[in-house]
Amino acid sequence: MAWTVPKLKALKGKQKLVALTAYDALSARYADQAGIPLILVGDSLAMTVLGYETTLPITMDEMVHHTAAVSRGVSEGLVVADMPFMSYQGTVEHAIENAGRFIKEAGADAVKIEGGALRGPLVEKLVSNGIPVLGHIGLTPQSVKEFGGFKAQGKTAEAARNLMDDAMVLEQAGAFAIVLECVPAELAKTLSAALTIPTIGIGAGPHCDGQILVFTDVLGMGQGHVPSFVKKFADLKPQIEQALAAYKADVESGGFPQV
Ligand code: KIV
Repeated sequence: MAWTVPKLKALKGKQKLVALTAYDALSARYADQAGIPLILVGDSLAMTVLGYETTLPITMDEMVHHTAAVSRGVSEGLVVADMPFMSYQGTVEHAIENAGRFIKEAGADAVKIEGGALRGPLVEKLVSNGIPVLGHIGLTPQSVKEFGGFKAQGKTAEAARNLMDDAMVLEQAGAFAIVLECVPAELAKTLSAALTIPTIGIGAGPHCDGQILVFTDVLGMGQGHVPSFVKKFADLKPQIEQALAAYKADVESGGFPQV
């Protein structure tokens, strides 16, 4: 049976929620066949697959194109599309129009937006228009310029209080779950206990209601920086390199194809 927003919310306190990014129909099929309930078309697509330095340059059209491919590869999981930088920070009308494209054109089930209390009114508007929202607070990569780099958040008492406010506002506004990225494990534990909706951690310790990782990191096949909190469940990069070197050598030596 396909995953829905109410089914995911009902996991809180009963079972850990597993989430993974996917960027095309191939990665989505693998994630779906593994039974991953939440499949996020993260804007990390910009860096992991499209060769950008940050997530900032990726466009709505690029995200819609890849989300549609992921939707084609998924039959059970809940597909969440990440709203890219500047697709929701302007007017509410512009944000609703963009979020609507993910549902209508790309077959997504929900959208993710970065930011806390400031996003409350937008989350409320999206949810009341039938578009489920996954929140995202802590290290929000679209604010990398404001943070001065990819830095852990919520380390001071004041920052922790602000994150608690952010989480409460998002829950109140109707977000169905919240990603906590790179916040201290104890803070993630407090937030998870205070909220009635699931928290999904990435670099936020073991006490969150669920975990999310990036597809290429889980498989050890990425080419860029891998954060220290990542656990590789396979190490495909050397295998890919060896296979491609063997193919090249075989063709060059005449070993492939055989007569
Ligand atoms: O873009 C992304 O992949 C993300 C997750 C890692 C949470 O936002």
